[in-house]
Amino acid sequence: MKLLMLLSVLSTATAAWNSGYFTSSVPLPTERFKILFLLPTTFKSHIWMAAPLLVDLARRGHEVHMFCDSRNQFKIPNVTCINHGVRLSAPEDVDTFDVVRNPLSLLKTFTNAAANDAEKMFNSDITMKVFERRGEYDLIVIDHLGLSMFYPFAHGTPFAILSCSPLLPCQSASLGNVPNPAFVSSALMEFKQPYGTFDRLKNIVLTLAQCYVYWAIHSQSEIVMSERFPWLPSFKEIERNASLHLVTSSMALDGPLALLPNQVPIAGLVLRPPQPLPKDILDFMSGNTSVIYISFGVSFIRNDSIPRDKKDILLSVSKKLPYKVIMNVYGQASGRSGNVLLTGMVPQQDILAHPNVKLFISHCGLAGVDETVYHGVPVIALPAAPEHGAMAGKLVLAGTAIQLSWLTLTEEILRDAVMEIMTNSSYGENMAFVSRVFRDQKDTALDRAVFWTEYAARFRGAPHLKSPARHLSWIEFLSLDFILLALVLCYCAFNVFLKVIRALRTKCVGDKNEKVKIT
Ligand SMILES: *[C@@H]1O[C@H](CO)[C@@H](O)[C@H](O)[C@H]1NC(C)=O
Ligand SMILES: *[C@@H]1O[C@H](CO)[C@@H](O)[C@H](O)[C@H]1NC(C)=O
Ligand SMILES: *[C@@H]1O[C@H](CO)[C@@H](O)[C@H](O)[C@H]1NC(C)=O
Ligand SMILES: *[C@@H]1O[C@H](CO)[C@@H](O)[C@H](O)[C@H]1NC(C)=O
Ligand SMILES: *[C@@H]1O[C@H](CO)[C@@H](O)[C@H](O)[C@H]1NC(C)=O
Repeated sequence: MKLLMLLSVLSTATAAWNSGYFTSSVPLPTERFKILFLLPTTFKSHIWMAAPLLVDLARRGHEVHMFCDSRNQFKIPNVTCINHGVRLSAPEDVDTFDVVRNPLSLLKTFTNAAANDAEKMFNSDITMKVFERRGEYDLIVIDHLGLSMFYPFAHGTPFAILSCSPLLPCQSASLGNVPNPAFVSSALMEFKQPYGTFDRLKNIVLTLAQCYVYWAIHSQSEIVMSERFPWLPSFKEIERNASLHLVTSSMALDGPLALLPNQVPIAGLVLRPPQPLPKDILDFMSGNTSVIYISFGVSFIRNDSIPRDKKDILLSVSKKLPYKVIMNVYGQASGRSGNVLLTGMVPQQDILAHPNVKLFISHCGLAGVDETVYHGVPVIALPAAPEHGAMAGKLVLAGTAIQLSWLTLTEEILRDAVMEIMTNSSYGENMAFVSRVFRDQKDTALDRAVFWTEYAARFRGAPHLKSPARHLSWIEFLSLDFILLALVLCYCAFNVFLKVIRALRTKCVGDKNEKVKIT
């Protein structure tokens, strides 16, 4: 049953890729390019987020290649899957609830996994063959989760970074756009704008922490890679060379960000027109009763790691609500029980698009947030990883969500939160506004992604797009040398001034004394 459901979601995705929905309005190119996508193949959610871009590039006549592994063969139309044959670490290797209890455990897991994966990746003959011929590609696009293993590909080849996350300050800084932590979020925790003094301090500290973590994750694999490829410059230096950064930010949720021309926001890439729902789900949802949709995603909380008692809370609260509930929690049996429909994976976008859906209970993965914002459905957030918490924080600040914690979740807390959102119209109204801002754009995320990817390929990496600031050291960037010089000069001038004053005073006093003696 579960397998069937999974297959049906995969076939829904494949159907959407084949359907022509993901067709940008960018005029067809006159040149054909060879583009390689290096995505972390075990993270399905990342592949699904990037897929619309691959689909459209292939449709436009480019030769699009991507790495696949034997467990995940994605049938993206007209995209060539190169099976690297490596068994990479996968989200199901992580116990999600360990992350909930101790977020730092994720850092250690990631750092070790990144180094192991990099090592394994380059032990593969297929990888090495592609690696040796990387110069044949006009552009290589690397998912930021894959950077630790794929940095060697990026050295000396025009490359773009694709981030399935909002703008990370450190990543932006490496392209030469240093965000000011006095008002740009650390991407770890959100505070009400404009920041109060204490929040500003916290945001500065968190921004530094974000930067530390960003490079800490790569540190182990950098050691491994520099042993294998001694000619390789440091990862930091390679990353500075990125031609393009496609980043999953949006003005609706992240506010007005000052971006470089080669930092292109593509939140909403996965959005497509709603497709008809499976009949059993549609029948369940029809009528006048509001529907609540509960789901914790396809990759991160996929394992059966949500503790039994937490699942029981979700189910027993759902059963007592005067609403219908569609619940998709990994490891549950499918079936209907009164007002609750237990399902496996379902086409989430199409459920959220249904006018009866009034609330989404979610862990706040990025794609889910884009989808719920697009369809204007308010949220109860139960985040697992820190990045989910940051997304939840954005929704809460916009007045569109209530954030709860898995650790303190009780029936009463959950029921109160549900009733608050279902009976207080302000959450729905605020979400409707955010949704309008999200939809009202002069071009789509796919248009931007396609245009700029082709642009970077057309101009062989488009060096003219890269900010010169990326080469500067902190001393140069902040002109600390000249500020120091100015301070020294001021100090000297002040000392000279003091000396002159003293000299003059001594002279005056001396003169007076002399006059006194004479008379
Ligand atoms: C894939 O390529 C074939 C042959 O060029 C074309 O007919 C088909 O429409 C393409 N499919 C998509 C989804 O672009
Ligand atoms: C996750 O599930 C897979 C397969 O169901 C299992 O092999 C793995 O040990 C599980 N991981 C954790 C951390 O529970
Ligand atoms: C940066 O890009 C240029 C042009 O493609 C290349 O010559 C140079 O080696 C690259 N530097 C690094 C550190 O990869
Ligand atoms: C739904 O509500 C409307 C008006 O409130 C009513 O006319 C209609 O009969 C209801 N439909 C069902 C299926 O209950
Ligand atoms: C609805 O929620 C908003 C935001 O939490 C709150 O300010 C407002 O007082 C609530 N309205 C009612 C009627 O409870």
